[in-house]
Amino acid sequence: MHTVHTPLIQRSSILANLGRLSAAMVFMLGLSQTNAADIPKIYQDSCAACHDTGALNAPKKGDTATWQKLKNDKGMPALIKAVKGGMIQMPAGGLCGTCSDDDYRQLIEYMSK
Ligand code: HEC
Repeated sequence: MHTVHTPLIQRSSILANLGRLSAAMVFMLGLSQTNAADIPKIYQDSCAACHDTGALNAPKKGDTATWQKLKNDKGMPALIKAVKGGMIQMPAGGLCGTCSDDDYRQLIEYMSK
């Protein structure tokens, strides 16, 4: 009996340590994601209110044809400028106070899909 118990206890403590290790790894992955610009999150926080539903006639996320046309007709630099300056119904910068030009470019690419 005694010889069976000891290895069982050891094995379960190894498993517990593995569990703790993978929890730490998930935590670290989460951290590295918030350090880089988290485009889906910024989209949710700053653009989705209008662009998910097409509220106020905003071009909708996933409306690939409309976004392709905007990109072809106006070009990406003009689109970035439009978000930053605001439009008739869109507040300047969308609702993002910290976005760079490159963040806006990525947000527009994200909405195009
Ligand atoms: C309060 C609603 C609202 C929010 C928030 C918003 N938009 Fe808009 N957006 C609009 C509307 C409405 C239009 C259509 C033009 C107009 O009437 O202002 C538009 C148009 C655009 C266009 C097309 C510009 C053009 O030249 O035709 C882009 C690009 C854009 N939005 C990007 C964004 C991005 C990126 C965000 C988030 C950072 C964002 N928008 C947040 C309402 C919004």
